[in-house]
Amino acid sequence: MIWRRALVAVALLASAALAPAAGVLDFSAAERALIASHGPWPLPPAHDAGNPVAGQPAAIAVGKRLFFERRLSADGSMSCASCHVPALAFADGRKRSKGREILDRNAPSLLNAGHQRWLGWDGAADSLWSQAIRVMLDRREFANSAGGLHALVQGDAALACDLRQAFGDTSQGTKSPEDPESPDRTLVQLAQAIGAYVASLQSPRTPFDAFRDALDAGDAAAAARYPLAAQRGLRIFIGKGRCQLCHSGAMFTNGEFADIGVPFFVRPGVVDPGRHGGIAALKGSRYNLLGPWATLLDPAEATKTRHVAAEPRHFGEFKVPGLRHVAATAPYMHDGSLATLEDVVRHYDRIDLERLHADGERILVPLQLTPAERADLLAFLRSLGGPVAAPPPLSAGRPDPCRRANAAAGISRPSRPESPLLSRRPAP
Ligand code: HEC
Ligand code: HEC
Repeated sequence: MIWRRALVAVALLASAALAPAAGVLDFSAAERALIASHGPWPLPPAHDAGNPVAGQPAAIAVGKRLFFERRLSADGSMSCASCHVPALAFADGRKRSKGREILDRNAPSLLNAGHQRWLGWDGAADSLWSQAIRVMLDRREFANSAGGLHALVQGDAALACDLRQAFGDTSQGTKSPEDPESPDRTLVQLAQAIGAYVASLQSPRTPFDAFRDALDAGDAAAAARYPLAAQRGLRIFIGKGRCQLCHSGAMFTNGEFADIGVPFFVRPGVVDPGRHGGIAALKGSRYNLLGPWATLLDPAEATKTRHVAAEPRHFGEFKVPGLRHVAATAPYMHDGSLATLEDVVRHYDRIDLERLHADGERILVPLQLTPAERADLLAFLRSLGGPVAAPPPLSAGRPDPCRRANAAAGISRPSRPESPLLSRRPAP
């Protein structure tokens, strides 16, 4: 009797000691270090390089209004929010975006974009504001010009007041040699205000972050709240899946470019050159960080732009995307060719090595996971966050010196078309 009771007591003790840990896999020290390397989250606020008003609340507020301003497009048909819909994690849910025609690529989410070194699937921009300039001038997107935007601002007291709010009355910050009244300057200021707003968009913490912090702090009870399937998937992600070699760090991207065998034909006979074309566009742009419009905090901010050079291997390479809130941003890949996360996992599971160019990735091998392992990897990817609540819409009653100035002058602002966008899901 006595030994039996003792045995029960020992069993109870053992299970009590195990209870919190029972819900946590036996991650090795090396695995724990890799897991910790995916945080902490959130990161410190992002900085839009070369942007003199980055981080300034007045510019962010103005940039937010401009983000929804359709009149920035030549025919008034679209704003940034047409393809970066707040309720869709600032993506658009389409395979490839629709501007004045169907574009070649899928619209990335803008959440956390400010933490990226290169913008666009091909990295053709080195700042958020120069990416915005590309959109304004691209004939398939806003199809506008510096002259057209300058005329718009000159003819609209509210917009002109907005820019004065963001930049002050003088040429504050912009070290441009050009005339303060130049159209180019208006173009850059509009883009820099928008860049300040986009840099402020960060995704919230996720179940993965809670797990990562709990594991780091040795809090087994808190760590055990993270489902075992996600833990097993995480182990694949940092282990035999080799995902972590490219999708590293708090953003789940190394910020570089790779060829993972996604076909790069835009249509029969037309190839998307990916990173190769992106470097050429970056180098050729007068709005890059080496150009006259960039206000650098430190000359080193432009080092990457100065040294990047196109090499043959860059053909068909695309940016390694971050994976936060990835469950909310289907379809996937630069061309939106994979509809679901299941499809993505299947892509890596059976990857076609013939498709990778000769000196391509030696990291990738067909994983040949079991169905249970594929489900675990999916559970992990989903734990990186799903749909993200759209930020509060523009408030009608905001304190706005421009509005008061306009009311006094008898000018009324056009209403902003934000709320219909928030509730509308575009057709796939
Ligand atoms: C017609 C659809 C469309 C419109 C309008 C649009 N975008 Fe985009 N956006 C895209 C697509 C597609 C990409 C990917 C571009 C590429 O890889 O070349 C993109 C990429 C970006 C990126 C890079 C994100 C990353 O992770 O690399 C940023 C930043 C961005 N857009 C901001 C804006 C801003 C700001 C505006 C308004 C001035 C805007 N976009 C308007 C479709 C659009
Ligand atoms: C060699 C680097 C590399 C490795 C290893 C790698 N990826 Fe990727 N991943 C990429 C690149 C590059 C893209 C975009 C490719 C494109 O669009 O053509 C991508 C795209 C994705 C996407 C789509 C994201 C989106 O927003 O469209 C997901 C999800 C993803 N990878 C998950 C994984 C998982 C899971 C693994 C491990 C099984 C993995 N990756 C391994 C480089 C890599």
